[in-house]
Amino acid sequence: MDKLIIHGGRRLAGEVTVSGAKNAALPLLFATLLAPGPHRIGNLPRLRDISTAERLLAELGAEVESSNGSVRVATAQINSMEAPYDLVRTMRASVLVLGPLLARYGRARVSLPGGCAIGARPINLHLKGLEAMGAEIHLDHGYVEARATRLQGARIYLDIPTVGGTENLMMAATLAKGVTVLENAAREPEIVDLAKALLGMGARIEGAGTDTISIEGVEELAPMDYLVMPDRIEAGTFLVAAAMTAGRVGVKGGCSEHMEALLSKLEEVGATVATEAQTLWVTGPEEINSVNIKTQPHPGFPTDMQAQFMALMALGKGTSMITEAVFENRFMHVCELQRMGADISIEGHTATVKGVAGLLGAPVMATDLRASASLVLAGLAADNTTEISRIYHLDRGYEKLEEKFRSLGADIERVPA
Ligand code: UD1
Repeated sequence: MDKLIIHGGRRLAGEVTVSGAKNAALPLLFATLLAPGPHRIGNLPRLRDISTAERLLAELGAEVESSNGSVRVATAQINSMEAPYDLVRTMRASVLVLGPLLARYGRARVSLPGGCAIGARPINLHLKGLEAMGAEIHLDHGYVEARATRLQGARIYLDIPTVGGTENLMMAATLAKGVTVLENAAREPEIVDLAKALLGMGARIEGAGTDTISIEGVEELAPMDYLVMPDRIEAGTFLVAAAMTAGRVGVKGGCSEHMEALLSKLEEVGATVATEAQTLWVTGPEEINSVNIKTQPHPGFPTDMQAQFMALMALGKGTSMITEAVFENRFMHVCELQRMGADISIEGHTATVKGVAGLLGAPVMATDLRASASLVLAGLAADNTTEISRIYHLDRGYEKLEEKFRSLGADIERVPA
């Protein structure tokens, strides 16, 4: 297993290009099941989760050919309706095949994702919505078995604005009979990206990006030819790195409208934010102000940036309260940051971070995707050497992370353990 070795303490400076968004690309890949294709998806990041999604499509019978950041998917010969446990276990977004398979073929068998490091993460709202659309759902030996002759439009209220649930139901509704209205829908930019791709396929959708999405089902959809939106979480990770190292980093393709909560918090911290042409620049302050954050569904502060922001707050000049309100167990990075000298205590869903003058390099272990990113940031700002093991978590979500950081002047390398 590879490790990352970081010699910290350098100011980062320069410009990086943001890759396509993993969380937008995954539902787009599964949306190819809605029409026979061939589909083409470009600006696809090369990541482990994307390969897993492509493997799952291939297992279902799709022809998948990927090259140079784009993929061609032909879904005319889908001959299996099953997302097996070993794939869903490694990537829970595999449950997004449920809506498309059910809508186009009237049946699907998908392993229940089970728990994961950041909490229980059930899919009850996905299932409740599909049942409201007339699907019959049974649980059988850890699998969800769903059937429907044809899904029917329905009015569905989501108790939580679930991102995956909104995507699954929006995809299912595109081929249902009649109109589906999703209330309290997720408003994440990735939902808007998926809706745009579906509109291009001939779907009828209104309101994506608001909390009420209305979908009028059609008889059939055409193949998509679509470019994935830039990754706002990857962009945010580089911008926080600028703030932590008193550096100046520009993210090319970083879209400021997708990152308003983060950018306004970075300004409160003392950083300067500016957009020039297609690049979003952050200049880090000499002294980092401590600010409070609470994660929320979009447009609130994203839970996927909480760990990275905590690494920044570890170097604040006061005390910061960080409340995680989306997932129940998303503070695994705390113990590792403490090993690097951070002063953090947790009570319930809130971490109290007392800023320290400097972090100290240490051997640490990555525990999940965004937690790993926070350790990289801490390592870049710390004195001496930080050695991060179990970085396969990072490879699920960041394309060429160490290469990109090196281009900004970081001393970071990947070594075989
Ligand atoms: C997506 C993102 C993930 C991000 C999260 C929240 C992808 C591939 N992943 O995950 O990076 O952290 O949104 O922004 O896009 N819940 C239920 N019942 C359900 C569904 C969800 O109780 O049926 C709960 C979850 O346990 C969690 C909360 O709702 O506490 C939010 O989850 P959700 O928005 O569904 O996240 P994901 O789509 O899994």
